[in-house]
Amino acid sequence: MSEDFEVILHTKSYLPDPEYKAQSHLGDYHNAYQEFLKNPEGFWDRMAREIEWMKPWDKVLEWDYPYARWFSGGTLNITTSCLDRHIKAGRRNKLALIWRGEDGEERVYTYRQLHRDVMRFANALKRLGVKKGDRICFYMPLVPEHIIALLACARIGAVHSIVYAGFGAEALHARIRDAEAKVVITADVGKRRGKVISLRSIVDDAIRNTPSVEKVIVLCREKCSVELYSEMEEDFYSLLDGVETDCPPEEMDAEDPLFILYTSGTTGMPKGIVHTCGGYATGVHYTARYIFDLKENDVLWCTADTGWITGHSYIVYGPLSAGATVVITETTPDWPDPGIWWSIIEELGVTIFYTAPTAIRMFMRVGEEWPNKYNLDSLRIIGSVGEPLNPEAFEWYYRVIGKNRIPVLDTWWQTETGMHMITTPLGEPMKPGFAGLPVPGIEVDVVDKDGNSMPPGQGGLLVIKKPWPSMMRTVYRNDERYRKYWNQIRNYYTAGDLAVKDNDGYIMILGRSDDIIIVAGHNLGTAEVESALVEHEAVAEAAVIGVPDEIKGQAVKAFVILVKGYEPSQKLVSELTYHVRMSIGPIAMPASIEFVDSLPRTRSGKIMRRILKAKEMNMDLGDTSTLEE
Ligand code: PRX
Repeated sequence: MSEDFEVILHTKSYLPDPEYKAQSHLGDYHNAYQEFLKNPEGFWDRMAREIEWMKPWDKVLEWDYPYARWFSGGTLNITTSCLDRHIKAGRRNKLALIWRGEDGEERVYTYRQLHRDVMRFANALKRLGVKKGDRICFYMPLVPEHIIALLACARIGAVHSIVYAGFGAEALHARIRDAEAKVVITADVGKRRGKVISLRSIVDDAIRNTPSVEKVIVLCREKCSVELYSEMEEDFYSLLDGVETDCPPEEMDAEDPLFILYTSGTTGMPKGIVHTCGGYATGVHYTARYIFDLKENDVLWCTADTGWITGHSYIVYGPLSAGATVVITETTPDWPDPGIWWSIIEELGVTIFYTAPTAIRMFMRVGEEWPNKYNLDSLRIIGSVGEPLNPEAFEWYYRVIGKNRIPVLDTWWQTETGMHMITTPLGEPMKPGFAGLPVPGIEVDVVDKDGNSMPPGQGGLLVIKKPWPSMMRTVYRNDERYRKYWNQIRNYYTAGDLAVKDNDGYIMILGRSDDIIIVAGHNLGTAEVESALVEHEAVAEAAVIGVPDEIKGQAVKAFVILVKGYEPSQKLVSELTYHVRMSIGPIAMPASIEFVDSLPRTRSGKIMRRILKAKEMNMDLGDTSTLEE
C-alpha cells in the first residue's frame, strides 16, 4: 500500500447507554479533550498528582526534540502507588490478584499479602546482590510469583525485561545479551493444553555465551530437585528463607528506567523499548482510571501475557495503581473447551474483559453456543487490542458478549506508547471498524509522507503530534533507532501504521506501513523470520510476507531459495518450519513455505516484499519502476 489512498468508510454506529458517560470518571469526552487542549501541561500535571510521589517535580515537560523529560526533579517508586497506598487507604484486605490455573487450581492475594510478598522478594534480590539499574530478565509463565518478582524489581529500582515464555532459546538469548541481564528469573515449567512445557531447559540453552548472567532463579512448580542445580541456579522460595519483610521503596528519579521491553522491528534484532518511572506510572494510572474507568468493585481480566506491553500496563501497573482486582490465568481460550474463558468470567464476576481480535474471531468460528452457556451479566466493559477489530468481529463481540448494551473499547496503542492512545471513550458512539478518537492528552493525525494532514476518507500515516508522559525514551543501546520514530516526519512521532479519519475525527487503523506482520496480535519483523530461515543450511535466501488469515488476522508465508544441491520437499518444509519454531517460537512459524528460484528485488538489491504480496493476493503490482529486470 502506498502512503496515501482513498478508503470507503463504514458509517454504522451504536449509541451506548447514556448512564455510562454519566457515571464515568472521564465524564464528557469532548469537554475533557478541550480542557486538555487549553492547557496540555496543566492536564498532565493534574494526572501526575493522582499517583504517589516522594518529591514533587519542578517542571512538567522539558521537550528537546526528539527527547522528552517528564516531571523533572520528581522522585517516586511506582510500587507505592500500586501497593502501599492501598494498604493505607483501607484496601488491605481487598483482593489484588486472583490466579486461575488450567486445571482449575486457584490462588488469591490481598493487597496486604501482595505488598508483603513483593517486599520479601525484593529483599531476596538485594541479598543476591541486585542493585538499582541492574537488568533482570523474566522468562516465566503467568503465575502470581511472576507478578511478585516483577514488582520486587521495581521496588528496588532494578530494570525488568520480560520475555514472553513462548519465545524460543535464540530469541531469549538475543534479549538477554542485548540487555546484559544480571539475573534471569524462570520456572521449571509452563502449562498449556494439559501438557507441561520445560522453560528451564530453554533458559539453559539461552544463557550459553551470556557473560552478564550471574544467577538464574527457578520457580519450581513440579519436582525440581535441589541437587540438580548448577551453581548459578537458585530456588525461588529458598531465596526467601530468613529475609526481612519490610523493604522501603527505592527512590527513583522520574526519568530513571523502569523496564525494557523488546518488540520486533524491521531489522532482525528486536528493539529494547525503554520506559521510565514517572511518565509511565502517570500514563497507565490515567488510562486505567479514565479510559477503563476502573472503580472500587471492578474485576479486570486482561487476557494478554505479561510478556507484552498490554500485560505490563493493564495486568500489572495500571490496574494495581487504580486499586482494582486483577484476574490472571494460565489458560488457553479453547482448552479444555471453548467455554473456559466465559466460565471464568461468570465464576469470578469479571466486570472488565480485555482481549484480542484473534481470540474473538476464534470464538466466532466455534459458535455462540459456548458463551451463551454462561451468565456474563457481571461485565460492564469489553475491550480489544493488538490488531484491527474488523467490523464482523466487532458486531459479534458487541452482540454475543456485550448483549447489545456493553461498550466495546477497541484500544489502539503500542509497546512504544506505553498506554492507550486511541479508543472510543465510554459514552461516545461506537463505529465498527474504527478504533475511535485520541484519548485526552494525546494529539494524533493522519498525514502524507511530508506531514500534511489528510482529509477524511484519505488514508495516510498515523502520527502523534506531541510528546506524552508514557512515551518510550529510547531504544536500549540504540538511540539512533529511537530517533527514527521522530525523524521520518519532522516533529511528529510516526507510529508505523496506516490509518484513515472520518468526518467526526474517528480513526480506522488499516495495518502496518512497514515490514511488520501481526500474527494473532503478536508483532513479527519479516527480517527476524527471514534470518531464522537462512540460518538453516538448506536455505540460501528467504523472504517473508503476511497473508490474510481468517482467525489470526495475518499468517506468515515464506519464499525460499534453496542452496544448490537441496531439492524442495515436504520434509524440508517441515524441517524449516520446525527450525523457525525452535529459534523464535511457535508464533513465528510459517503457515506455508514456497520454494522459488528468485525473489523480486530493487536495482539496489532490496527484496520487494510488496511485489510478492501483490502477486500472492492477485493484486495490481503497483509501481514496479524500481524492480530489477
Ligand atoms: O499495528 C498496530 C497494532 O499493533 C501495533 C503495536 O503492537 P505492539 O507494540 O505489540 O502493541 C500491541 C498492544 C498495545 C500497532 O502499531 N495494533 C495495536 N492495537 C491495535 C492495533 N491495530 C489496530 N487496532 C488496534 N486496536
